[in-house]
Amino acid sequence: MNPPVPEGKLPAHLAIVMDGNGRWARQRGLSRVEGHRKGAEVARVITEECARIGIKFLSLFAFSTDNWARPKSEVDALFLLLKSYLRKERQTLIANGIRFRAIGNISQLPNNIQRLVAQTERATAPCSRMELILALNYSGQWDILQAVFRLARDAEAHKVRPEDITPDLFERYLVSSDAPVPDLLIRTGGERRISNFYLYPLAYTELYFTPTPWPDFTPEELHEALEEFSRRERRFGRIPEPQQL
Ligand code: IPE
Ligand code: IPE
Ligand code: MG
Repeated sequence: MNPPVPEGKLPAHLAIVMDGNGRWARQRGLSRVEGHRKGAEVARVITEECARIGIKFLSLFAFSTDNWARPKSEVDALFLLLKSYLRKERQTLIANGIRFRAIGNISQLPNNIQRLVAQTERATAPCSRMELILALNYSGQWDILQAVFRLARDAEAHKVRPEDITPDLFERYLVSSDAPVPDLLIRTGGERRISNFYLYPLAYTELYFTPTPWPDFTPEELHEALEEFSRRERRFGRIPEPQQL
């Protein structure tokens, strides 16, 4: 499959809310965990396709700070899957030139996950074809609050003066600050909401919602979303060029 859109019209940063695993499984008479298992496979396929076609940053929302409210058995199963994903994927990530980074409240995750995350980040650090940002125990509100907290600490230590706090400076305190802001957000599974994924960085992000549950999402549908993105007119609050007087 060739890229449907020229590389210049691809989002530099694509963010995905991988939703609909549970409903996909239930519709097939399977347990929700089976949906997550299939979802993890799809995450691998879509990640490799993004790297192949030239996307530079891919963010995947894997576990929200709000997902702790699910039954413990589901949370435990998600962490087991994550563990096996991190173990199995390291070599594939390296082979595909994909640098791995996790964002979120990582210190609150089980120790074995923290260790695997750190090992995967270290092992893939030299890779430069694409950066995969896995949002793990992440939420947009948590990100803003941790930024405010660290900024307040720096102000207290006289490293920052309140009058110097600009959007640029504030953004540097967000955990996603090493990546450009997302150009396109895809949410699968039919819901039309952000569900506490990136908040501040989504200010001018194009949104694409599809009813397809994540386990059924394919590279073909990714290409459809990218094609639609390439036809969107992004204005950032301005008016289109020819209409300027
Ligand atoms: C998304 O699928 C995966 C996670 C939130 C971890 P869901 O588990 O939310 O699936 P639905 O939305 O219940 O179908
Ligand atoms: C968003 O999906 C979180 C992830 C995909 C990790 P949710 O399923 O948690 O969101 P809601 O509950 O439908 O808003
Ligand atoms: Mg859901």
